[in-house]
Amino acid sequence: MSSIVKDLGLKSIGMDLIEWAEDWMPILKIVREELISEQVLKDVRIGACLHIEGKTAVLVKTLTDAGAEVYVCASNPESTQDAVAAALSDYAYIYAWRGETEEEYMENIRRVIDKSPNIIIDDGADLTITLHREYPEKIGYVYGVCEETTTGVRRLRGLERDGLLKFPAIAVNNAMMKYLFDNRYGTGESAVFGFLNATNTVIAGKTVVVAGYGWVGRGVAQRFRGMGANVIVTEVNPVRAVEACMDGFRVMRMIEAVKIADIVVTATGNIDVVTVEHLRNMKDKCILANAGHFDVEVSVRDLEMEAVEKKDMRFFQTPYNTYMVRKYKLKNGKTIYLLGKGRLVNLACGQGHAAEIMDLSFSLQAECVKYLVKNRGRLERKVYKVPHEIDAKIAELKLKTLGVEIDKLTEKQKKYIESWY
Ligand code: NAI
Repeated sequence: MSSIVKDLGLKSIGMDLIEWAEDWMPILKIVREELISEQVLKDVRIGACLHIEGKTAVLVKTLTDAGAEVYVCASNPESTQDAVAAALSDYAYIYAWRGETEEEYMENIRRVIDKSPNIIIDDGADLTITLHREYPEKIGYVYGVCEETTTGVRRLRGLERDGLLKFPAIAVNNAMMKYLFDNRYGTGESAVFGFLNATNTVIAGKTVVVAGYGWVGRGVAQRFRGMGANVIVTEVNPVRAVEACMDGFRVMRMIEAVKIADIVVTATGNIDVVTVEHLRNMKDKCILANAGHFDVEVSVRDLEMEAVEKKDMRFFQTPYNTYMVRKYKLKNGKTIYLLGKGRLVNLACGQGHAAEIMDLSFSLQAECVKYLVKNRGRLERKVYKVPHEIDAKIAELKLKTLGVEIDKLTEKQKKYIESWY
């Protein structure tokens, strides 16, 4: 079956979005040339469950140019850019549109699994987990999975711990060239953009509460501070709480923080970070957004139950896209706004990370796909770190594309730092 997208008539808009991203992804271009000349991906079937937007399209094109057959579904029902999905259907099989229901979302994942992928590129592990749960007969086709995000790696480690992981996995998220840049600077910038796009309100002078001071949280906290907000951090990990204090943020419990918050952004990868007890204590007109992978950080269920009225507003200005803000009137008379249905605000209300950031993440992905294919049959059913050589290669290519040169250790220096005397 061919692709299933919202509207093939959007192709030319999508082509422009892809071309724009491509112009800002020079590392992936170098990786693509290598892949094409090495021919390692020829006829390899790749199932990708990713946010479908311009940068992802550049990765998919890279893989198809290198000879792979690629099948793509969305890793979030609210992150697909329909124009990009339409354009990408010229290169790969796409099963995705913005605003999928939960059932449609799962159906599209199953469509990809039906194609018996050899390699999985996952973002959040939904494809991998569904394949494990429902398709034991497809396991034998899979050489391995490359996982893009913190939440996905956590889930894969859970499978591994319980002895259920059936093929090798590479924790692409945990490469230094991924989380130090994508999670931190990528999400920091794009969450601010998504917030502004959805609300068109001022950030300067507002009190912004950021839940979680991991790689995503610290990027979000820094960037909102950079826009002039007074940022408060909430944490459960004492070390990270101390880091937040030393970075100059106020740290407090969520139940206290919500009393003064104008904006709350969750970034924990955890569930029930904002629940009914917090909602009841919020200031009037508090705006809630989530930057974590799943829509479970702000309890949308509690919000719906506590509301007496609700209204959807501020629709995307492009065809077929869904609303960005839901306005709730609570039983206590206060108004609360939820952005992007509680899904990743940078994608549900924005355009995702900058292309230069995804250049790093997707170059790592392409290198890890190559690694899995080359090491087919030699790896165990374990979650592996990204090999150091790959991390180092991407760092070096980044410096090269930036035109930055750094010093090299002399033989004397090497000896000195390795010696114990
Ligand atoms: P991380 O593990 O580095 O940080 C999470 C932090 O949240 C930890 O410090 C943890 O102690 C804290 N935390 C956990 N439960 C909490 C609670 N109830 N209250 C306050 N703090 C709590 O993870 P990372 O890399 O920062 O990722 C966070 C989430 O963002 C994950 O779901 C990840 O998949 C997602 N992500 C989203 C991106 C986006 O584009 N929006 C990009 C990259 C990751």
